[in-house]
Amino acid sequence: MCGIVGYTGFQDAYDVVINGLRRLEYRGYDSAGIVLDKKDNSFEVEKTKGKVDDLVAISHHLKNTAHVGMGHTRWATHGVPSDRNSHPHLSNDGKIALVHNGIIENYDTIKTMLKEKGFTFKSETDTEVLVNLIQYFMDTTTDIDFPTAVRFALNEVYGAYAITVMHEDHPGVLVVGRLGSPLAIGLGENEYFIASDASPFVEFTKEAIYLEEGHMATISLQNGVDIRTIKDNSKIEPAVQQLKLSLEQIEKGGYEHFMLKEIFEQPKSIHDTLRGRLLVEEGIIKMAGIWDHLEKFTNAQKITIIACGTSWHAGLIGEYLIEEFARIPVEVEYASEFRYRNPIINEKDVVIAISQSGETADTMAALKLAKERGAFIYGICNVVDSSISRITDAGSYTHAGPEIGVASTKAFTAQLTILALIALKLGKHNGNLGNAEFMSLISELNAIPKKIEEVLATTHDLIKEMAKDFTNTHNFLYLGRGYNYPAALEGALKLKEISYIHAEGYPAAEMKHGPIALIDENMPIVIIAPKRGHYDKIVSNVQEIKARKGKVIAVVNKGDVQVAEMADYVIEIPDTSECFSPIVASVPLQLLAYYIAVYRGANVDQPRNLAKSVTVE
Ligand code: M6R
Repeated sequence: MCGIVGYTGFQDAYDVVINGLRRLEYRGYDSAGIVLDKKDNSFEVEKTKGKVDDLVAISHHLKNTAHVGMGHTRWATHGVPSDRNSHPHLSNDGKIALVHNGIIENYDTIKTMLKEKGFTFKSETDTEVLVNLIQYFMDTTTDIDFPTAVRFALNEVYGAYAITVMHEDHPGVLVVGRLGSPLAIGLGENEYFIASDASPFVEFTKEAIYLEEGHMATISLQNGVDIRTIKDNSKIEPAVQQLKLSLEQIEKGGYEHFMLKEIFEQPKSIHDTLRGRLLVEEGIIKMAGIWDHLEKFTNAQKITIIACGTSWHAGLIGEYLIEEFARIPVEVEYASEFRYRNPIINEKDVVIAISQSGETADTMAALKLAKERGAFIYGICNVVDSSISRITDAGSYTHAGPEIGVASTKAFTAQLTILALIALKLGKHNGNLGNAEFMSLISELNAIPKKIEEVLATTHDLIKEMAKDFTNTHNFLYLGRGYNYPAALEGALKLKEISYIHAEGYPAAEMKHGPIALIDENMPIVIIAPKRGHYDKIVSNVQEIKARKGKVIAVVNKGDVQVAEMADYVIEIPDTSECFSPIVASVPLQLLAYYIAVYRGANVDQPRNLAKSVTVE
């Protein structure tokens, strides 16, 4: 995915765009670019492979030259990251500039057609095709205006996009469009902002319009915001929203990285996820989304959980929770596989989609398929009003707050919290969970934020120190059983994505069926071994590892003796119910991955090749 920023108003457009791009850099960071409609009404473009800082290095002469402009930070899809492939792209006549997030799937056919008409291309991107298609309509259609040419072009393409377009002959006008990728319009006083999310303009205005699917808008100081459908130009009344986002939420607040800040936010984010939903005294779980559709869930022939990456790991724990407490069969699927394997899914099914961003293209596509087949769709998203949350029949937001570090941390534990609430609610409702057990579990769940506070306070310094021993390690194994098997998968994913150390997660018992061959004195093995949950079996696994001289990093409950005595490194966490232990155990694993990556000099918040949400299939 990529980040888009646009501005028209009275401020220095260069500053607004560059600062906005910095906020959106989490969305993609292999190249960046800016175009300004300068005060003499000429365009000036600067773009480069690299980060926003690299762009600033070549573009600071543009400061104070314009009040209108737009910029882009890229995560490459078509064409390698390079200066040429960076956005903005200009049309052949040099008059139209375009920035784009998404993929134009039929770009090749259009490119061939345009080449036949004499157009030439400098880049390998689909975006350059779209900007030239707009020029083509401007050149060949009598009396056409600029927004109409954009509309015509958008009607010719299919795929996913959010775009912003400027035309040199239409100074001060920004045309935007959306299909499958988000775009927000910030409404200031005598100024308008455009951005992939509201973070670039939150300090300037709290009013925003989130462009709907299939809509476009023409924005200028003279005529305000004119929203139309892309298909047939029907006028749309804008729905203005009040932003709840604060500047504080999207800044690092004294932490070196967003990831560390987000790890430390977990007591609060889990508390926020539970707030208003878990009423311990009354013995009630109040979740409107579930409450209104309880029968759909309890009568479901099965629940299918669809997600990718970390959210998929959360889904696996969700399966354990729902099957244990509600006794409803659950399947967990990678969204990308689900969609392409003709799954058996119908109106008797419930499908739960889990997604931090709510924009993941694989998850979105899988959901559309499930919807077509009549399943009831429930969403667990963090980003409010995101595309996935809009297409679901019902859902619960995780309320973890903006997660900016590419590696998901607080969103994961918030997802687990929601899944625990759902499982307990369903179990109580369908009678599989007795009142006494329910009451004891909800009071334990309520105690989780405090326990995470304790983990952060007692393990941070220890892990920071211990991580130094692993900066030159090449491989890691992560093992866990039961609820902590997915936590092991998640621990391994965290390490590999930010430190680039190869790491694999396994159910601890599977070790002897293959991975044990890898174990020697150079192999660190992180083993999650809380007292509750197959502890004796884990003890045997640790013995097997020690017999082969593997280095054991054990996550155990406070006061543990058996595993702790055998382990090379011991991380103690407070005791909790087995079903909530992955929430607590994940926190030290996040810290471990974080510090190893920091010592290796990796860019923790923006690891190579990744983007915060993957809006392409
Ligand atoms: O926004 P989503 O939860 O749908 O994203 C899914 C994955 O792309 C995401 O969890 C990814 O694996 C993260 N980088 C993990 O830290």
